[in-house]
Amino acid sequence: MESATEGISKLGINGDFASSVPNLHKNLSLLSPDQIELAKMLVAMEQSHLFTNWPEPGVDDGEKKAFFDQVTRLNSSYPGGLASYIKTARGLLSDSKTGKNPFDGFTPSVPTGENLSYGDETFMKFEEAGVKEAQNAAFVLVAGGLGERLGYNGIKVNTLCFKTTTGACFLQHYIENVLALQEASCKVTGGQSERDIPFAIMTSDDTHARTMQLLESNKYFGMKPAQIKLLKQEKVACLEDNDARLALDPQNKFRIQTKPHGHGDVHALLYSSGVLEEWQRGGVRWVLFFQDTNGLLFKAIPASLGVSATKGYHVNSLAVPRKAKEAIGGITKLTHTDGRSMVINVEYNQLDPLLRATGNPDGDVNCETGYSPFPGNINQLIMELGPYFEELKKTGGAIKEFVNPKYKDASKTAFKSSTRLECMMQDYPKTLPPSARVGFTVMDAWVAYAPVKNNPEDAAKVPKGNPYHSATSGEMAVYRANSLILRRAGVQVEDPVQQEFNGQEVEVWPRVVWKPKWGLTFADVKKKVAGSSSISQKSTLALKGRNIFIENLSLDGALVVESGDGAEVKVGGSVKNKGWAIEKVDYKDTSVPEEIRIRGFRFQKTEQLEKQYTEPGKFELKA
Ligand code: UTP
Repeated sequence: MESATEGISKLGINGDFASSVPNLHKNLSLLSPDQIELAKMLVAMEQSHLFTNWPEPGVDDGEKKAFFDQVTRLNSSYPGGLASYIKTARGLLSDSKTGKNPFDGFTPSVPTGENLSYGDETFMKFEEAGVKEAQNAAFVLVAGGLGERLGYNGIKVNTLCFKTTTGACFLQHYIENVLALQEASCKVTGGQSERDIPFAIMTSDDTHARTMQLLESNKYFGMKPAQIKLLKQEKVACLEDNDARLALDPQNKFRIQTKPHGHGDVHALLYSSGVLEEWQRGGVRWVLFFQDTNGLLFKAIPASLGVSATKGYHVNSLAVPRKAKEAIGGITKLTHTDGRSMVINVEYNQLDPLLRATGNPDGDVNCETGYSPFPGNINQLIMELGPYFEELKKTGGAIKEFVNPKYKDASKTAFKSSTRLECMMQDYPKTLPPSARVGFTVMDAWVAYAPVKNNPEDAAKVPKGNPYHSATSGEMAVYRANSLILRRAGVQVEDPVQQEFNGQEVEVWPRVVWKPKWGLTFADVKKKVAGSSSISQKSTLALKGRNIFIENLSLDGALVVESGDGAEVKVGGSVKNKGWAIEKVDYKDTSVPEEIRIRGFRFQKTEQLEKQYTEPGKFELKA
């Protein structure tokens, strides 16, 4: 049998290696041939400091092996491996030190896209087209984020939404919407059997186990387990200086410190896991990406998908009107002096200086619509799978990264704490050729965007007139949207009142909620509302069933109707009761469960009319 030293010499490790990294060299016999290759790569990439404190063989050998297990994972989960990560990091750190402008040579202009107005004829045409296409869709939820700004102890997909009224968390709401789309799409296309819409969730070490548990303990909220795929993103190595030396974990000298790489990982994961290929073989045509806490999004999905299909967009970014200088990125066309061009999200703090530097002395200003001509990116993307897959075959899903080191001083020679490369899902178009069809769909924010990102304290500090993006505003936005949709469908819905919760002033509309299968599109809602109905501001209306028809209903209180799929229920007459009053809760009151506290309110369910129709048949609820 050959000795470890003979084996090592066969692998090409010479005397220099022994003198330059003596502590590693002494321990080489502990490593497998693959690990020795990785050790050579680390030394070649000037990472010898990682081994400075390695003790003699026989001491902490298990930890040394675990170190290389970690290196193996870091190497295989990054497109191009760790060497490529270090090389890219060196380039980006050098650009950051010299203050290089990433937009040098680019001129911004307004790209072309579709501006929709909820409920009008064009909108309904796109919704119809989108529902037809949905049977060829797959959904991807990115849910690996830490949610530091929200500061909630659980995972974000298990919070809120409008849980107070229906008991549904975000994940349930999303899954029920996908299932409703699946069914509706099959119906309109006259399909014999429903095609299961695939649903992928990107998790991370911070969210994976709890997401799995949430699904398992709720029977996947009605979806087939095989329909759902969890893809776990890995963290990336931290960097301790401008030379991209990897940082050791301050708690453990045998581990490299790691931090999240950002939601841009989703592209590489879909590709490397084989999921995209499987979807393509299964006939998927559209891949829809969305985020963990937006209770409104699915109201915008059918029409936006219709836009993608009708316009033939390879990439369609969902957007909302944006006030000039508002703190969300603007979708922008960038044209370079060398002829390159792309349609991309430009962060708000970069857009204004870029416009000023390229012949627009006023920078980012509102146009005649009262909004900036650059629509606000909400980071929900629809890709056409064919061109997307072809592009990923070339790039492996690698997304242009950035680095954001916090320097100790103006010399920019040292960092306050380690940094790492990051990437964003919306930067995917940066590598696309100019022939790629990249567009956007703008929809009013009230119908498309109400994320839950900020904790109550930070939300209360948001300047007046800007969105809070808190648990309070996220839930109230759903009641407002549903009330406004019912208004457009002909119901008289009383005006909201202003109220303050956790230091945030919000509009409080009647608490109207429905299951996705009741009103997936505006056409569905219109079909289910007839005659002259009215809802007072203090009311709560929960519609938990498919075929519930509202006809000449006067509601002043709380009404909850639940029906099985075979039941058809006509609801009318006058419902008047004490209803569900809103009670304020202070977020500092720790005797109240966290998910209630962070919203700042709960319901006092004093009196309601609650009816269930589980059997098939026709029913009438005449109060
Ligand atoms: P956010 O901007 O909300 O970031 O991410 P976050 O990390 O969740 O929260 P903060 O910044 O710590 O407060 C937008 C979306 O991207 C996902 C999030 O789960 C959310 O749906 N995300 C973010 C990932 O999936 N992975 C990441 O590494 C980062």
